[in-house]
Amino acid sequence: MSDRFETGPDRRGTGSLKWDKYKGRDVLPLWVADMDFAVAEPIIDVMRARLEHPVLGYTIATEKTSQVVCDMLRREYNWEVQPEWLVWIPGVVPGLWAACAAVGEDGEEALFNTPIYHHFYHVPGKARKQAVGVALQEDENGRWSYDMAALQSAITDKSRLMMLCHPHNPTGTAFTAEETAAVCRLAADKGMTIVSDEIHCGLMLTESRPHVPAAMACPEAAERMITLMSPSKTFNLAGLDCAFAVIPDARLRRAFSAAGKSVLPMVAGPGYTALEVAYTDVCKPWHEKLLATLRANYAYLYDEINRIDGLRMGPMEATYLAWINTAEVPHDNVQGLFEEFGAGLSGGAEFGLSDYVRLNFACPMPVLEEAVARIRKAIASL
Ligand SMILES: Cc1ncc(COP(=O)(O)O)c(C=O)c1O
Repeated sequence: MSDRFETGPDRRGTGSLKWDKYKGRDVLPLWVADMDFAVAEPIIDVMRARLEHPVLGYTIATEKTSQVVCDMLRREYNWEVQPEWLVWIPGVVPGLWAACAAVGEDGEEALFNTPIYHHFYHVPGKARKQAVGVALQEDENGRWSYDMAALQSAITDKSRLMMLCHPHNPTGTAFTAEETAAVCRLAADKGMTIVSDEIHCGLMLTESRPHVPAAMACPEAAERMITLMSPSKTFNLAGLDCAFAVIPDARLRRAFSAAGKSVLPMVAGPGYTALEVAYTDVCKPWHEKLLATLRANYAYLYDEINRIDGLRMGPMEATYLAWINTAEVPHDNVQGLFEEFGAGLSGGAEFGLSDYVRLNFACPMPVLEEAVARIRKAIASL
């Protein structure tokens, strides 16, 4: 088990989006959000076993699939979810789109908090809604949280949807139950629907504070919520296109499903197969080892980055995506500079702030150490 995290498989030549970007170049890919760790053995085993049956036709979630999800939500979050509240979707981004398409009239507004995962900027427009970004605020310690006054004043009589990213990509904040409840109450008071993207909920870096789903933080607003989850980030299954929405209200659920009909593909069968195992106890040891690895990587990165002149990284509570302030670096394209020195990060502009870069640290420690050495060299070259 341990070398699954200490070395990691060679992903070159596997059609990996992350690695093929720098095909033939000595650049460590630290950008798109998947991990360089091998999937848990019980998931590999069940996928192999599935192929003993030689037909891969259209596949639906069975009673067992839904039950596994409901059991996981009860066990992890104390959240009692009925199987019929689940709507299966081929990804969380398609779920964000279906939420935007299902709620409100053309031209009405969907709000979200910036900086943010880039698809939030684009999805409302694809569903003929107006995208409205409201800046998060950063405290003196570098932690990002909601600016309630700014949110309140951004809400108009056309605001229909509050889009949450919880935990938050790219800042790494895991909002507290109180912070989440405050935003949900505000949205509910204004009659808005809430869609909460909780794809990173299994990646908590704080041992003492578990993730609290928005629907648990603010049960009084749960009837107007669409919660989006997936095993894809936590269990490194992004290529399997399997996610789900939890929608307690029947009318909202019907509108969400109707929006996706004839547009969104079905979940690919192997996605269900993997999920049914990922969310059970047999994958717990792998998940615990993953969290221990990510926590160690984060602690190392935080210390090292904050020692480099001109770079500043705030505290993180969740995700494996570090948000690094480069405003003090005397260069107008820091992402490009790092790439020249062999470290392939994401530029901050796509998330809404060009003075930042984002570093994916879900890789074996030796790779991270080499990446930091290259970043240090890049800065020293100026
Ligand atoms: C906040 C957030 N939502 C959604 C996704 C992607 O979801 P999917 O691949 O299921 O569409 C990502 C991937 O990085 C993400 O960070």
